[in-house]
Amino acid sequence: MGIVVAIDGPAGAGKSSTAKEVARQLDYVYVDTGAMYRAVTLIVLEQNIDISDHAKISDIAKNILIEFRWIDDVFHTFVDNVDVTDKIRSKEVVSMVSPVSVIPEVREILANNQRKLADTDNIVMEGRDIGTNVFPNAEFKFYITADVEVRAKRRIHDYKKIGQDLTVEEIIEKMKQRDKIDSSREHSPLKKAQDAVTIDTSDLTFEEQVGKIVDIVKNK
Ligand code: DC
Repeated sequence: MGIVVAIDGPAGAGKSSTAKEVARQLDYVYVDTGAMYRAVTLIVLEQNIDISDHAKISDIAKNILIEFRWIDDVFHTFVDNVDVTDKIRSKEVVSMVSPVSVIPEVREILANNQRKLADTDNIVMEGRDIGTNVFPNAEFKFYITADVEVRAKRRIHDYKKIGQDLTVEEIIEKMKQRDKIDSSREHSPLKKAQDAVTIDTSDLTFEEQVGKIVDIVKNK
């Protein structure tokens, strides 16, 4: 069993970029669990499956192969060997991913797959329930957060990159909706683990937030 660094927090707090850089500096494997929920959601949309059809959605979660690959220093997500890196960031996927993530069977399937990833490697895993549910005994737990306006401004660039122009207000609205569903769902909601270290990135530089985590891991 490898060492687990769990990084949780709401959308846009800087989790992904921070977790990736932490993994690079520690030479751990980076795992983006949000990309896994997004990948299932993308296939649900592509196959036009009704959101109330939990059996079909669970089948998708069970049967698709989600893989991560680094290509020229860029993190890519593949589903059944197709590169879905950009598609899983679209606003259509964003609107549907929280309702899909609420489904208990989907969570169980993905959480089990996530646990397997630590069998052989040291990992930095980011998500919403890593420190509380996937790895309640993780050696290191962090909860990354930031003001909603700061988070929305950061996300604008992510949408621009894939050719979708949204205003800050639109993004704030989407984020609040998503935070609300993610935090209030019955099964493994977004919640800070009691023993997690909170890092508020509103006023931190990228180097500072990465440094805080890397220092704690290295100094233990
Ligand atoms: O981190 P992200 O924005 O890519 O996550 C997308 C959605 O996936 C998020 O709104 C909730 C869900 N998610 C989850 O329920 N549990 C996780 N561990 C990771 C993501």
